[in-house]
Amino acid sequence: SALLNVMIDAARKAAKGLVRDFGELSELQVSRKGSASDFVTAADLKAEQTLFELLNKARPGYSFLAEERGLIEGTDKTHRWIVDPLDGTTNFIHAIPHFAINIALEREGTVVAAVTFNPVANELFWAEKGKGAFLNNEKRLRVAARTRLDDAVLATGIPFLGKPGHAPFLKELHQISQRVAGVRRFGAAALDMAWVAAGRFDGFWERGLNPWDLAAGMLLVTEAGGKVTNLEGEDDVLGTGTVLAANLEMHPLVLEKLKAAG
Ligand code: IPD
Ligand code: CA
Ligand code: CA
Ligand code: CA
Repeated sequence: SALLNVMIDAARKAAKGLVRDFGELSELQVSRKGSASDFVTAADLKAEQTLFELLNKARPGYSFLAEERGLIEGTDKTHRWIVDPLDGTTNFIHAIPHFAINIALEREGTVVAAVTFNPVANELFWAEKGKGAFLNNEKRLRVAARTRLDDAVLATGIPFLGKPGHAPFLKELHQISQRVAGVRRFGAAALDMAWVAAGRFDGFWERGLNPWDLAAGMLLVTEAGGKVTNLEGEDDVLGTGTVLAANLEMHPLVLEKLKAAG
């Protein structure tokens, strides 16, 4: 659709700058936001500026919520972009080629279109509400068909310096890692969600996330036939910043194990 083309074009243009700067550590101008391990680089800011200009030009008046500049209220009260210009900044700084540009569009509080683009792998995940989730041109995405915890590979996020929740996380990990085929921590929540949609991960859970990490992935996973809730098993994901995404059979099994750990 025309809307998806706008989003894809913006993601590809912003990604050019990221790819150019990737690995050029001396040029990155890394700084910390506050005292925690919450880094920002010149590349995050440049990509965000590019996305803001292109999305705003194509759809004037839409509100714009992005990690580095916060919320810019538009005149259009029904539409809001939710943007992470670089998800996986810590990977990026360490020259680990696993990061993404994440763009979602909300209409009246519901995510209706999503793009998650990993430029290094050249994988562009996209979805439109009611029309399915796709990888690159035409490959339709489906969540994994595995239904047993014994077969499951789950992704998560390990809390780091400056983040709360180390103790509950370690309890959960202790419980769940004994029951599954594997747990992974790759460092980009947007790609964790996209990989659940693609059936690579059987599930993903994390806490302490923000709307720009999750909004696009929520639509990717649900359009790929999966289920996304917060860690209470309820719908409010963006408001709580906790998430569990998985296929319909795996979701309750993982949720039960996570809850039992608490
Ligand atoms: C981070 C990544 C990471 C998650 C952090 C996020 P950023 O996003 O998604 O996987 O564990 O909580 O903040 O800061 O690289 O955009
Ligand atoms: Ca960040
Ligand atoms: Ca992020
Ligand atoms: Ca970011």
